[in-house]
Amino acid sequence: MTDQAKFKKIMTTAARQAGVYALREWKKFDRAGIKMKSKHEILTKVDLGSEKRIIRAIRRGFPDHKILSEEAGREQGDSEYEWIVDPIDGTTNFSMHNPLWAISIGLAHKGELVMGVVFAPAMDEMYFAARDRGAFLNNRRIRQSKISSGKTLNAFCHGSRELDLKRALKYYRYQKLRGFDCRQLGSASIELGFVAAGRIESIMIPGAHAWDVAAGVLLVREAGGRVSDFSGRAWGLESKDILASNRRTHPRLLKIIKGLRI
Ligand code: IPD
Ligand code: CA
Repeated sequence: MTDQAKFKKIMTTAARQAGVYALREWKKFDRAGIKMKSKHEILTKVDLGSEKRIIRAIRRGFPDHKILSEEAGREQGDSEYEWIVDPIDGTTNFSMHNPLWAISIGLAHKGELVMGVVFAPAMDEMYFAARDRGAFLNNRRIRQSKISSGKTLNAFCHGSRELDLKRALKYYRYQKLRGFDCRQLGSASIELGFVAAGRIESIMIPGAHAWDVAAGVLLVREAGGRVSDFSGRAWGLESKDILASNRRTHPRLLKIIKGLRI
């Protein structure tokens, strides 16, 4: 088996196994047991259970690879490979029985994204991308939309700092007042998957974490879209903000973000 094939096998199997577990828990989930991780962020036992399963699967396949995971943090090492994991992206949606939550696993080599999977078990949607090999939804090739004006559909999220929320609200207000739809769907990885599949035109996030977006960034790029920070530089693992959209819309949205000084 080639390295590529082994990466894909471990990545998709880990996502599916964690997804089967999380879906079972989702169906009977009771919000009463939720803990607050910070003022705006919640943590459930399912985030931890999913993470345990994913890390175990990666460790089994690649014991020397580094892993950055939302709840467990970063494990240092000498390997050139790093897995970037969000065990449940969209925990608030999960807790309210909204199906828009996903398991997100990305893989970087020397800091460059090479593979990613976003699995949304409650919708039975598995998004997968490998660098220079395209993006897929349930094994069918997906591509960005070509809409650039008129009824564009835009999404936004924000990081946990109050400043990030204020920056996002500025953008939301601007879009809505000009008649463009702008929604917070509550799962950054799914929103990136939606951009890749051409279901929406864009997603912007001030204060994004790498684990929320790493896999989704590769999906958008491989579907033909563009992903940058708010200054227009190509998005990288150290970037704080993210604008991902189809190619035609990107320059216009970037201009709006710069004009609003977000
Ligand atoms: C959150 C979601 C949400 C975004 C937040 C993220 P989590 O991830 O992706 O859409 O607005 O910034 O933290 O906490 O559910 O993994
Ligand atoms: Ca999470």
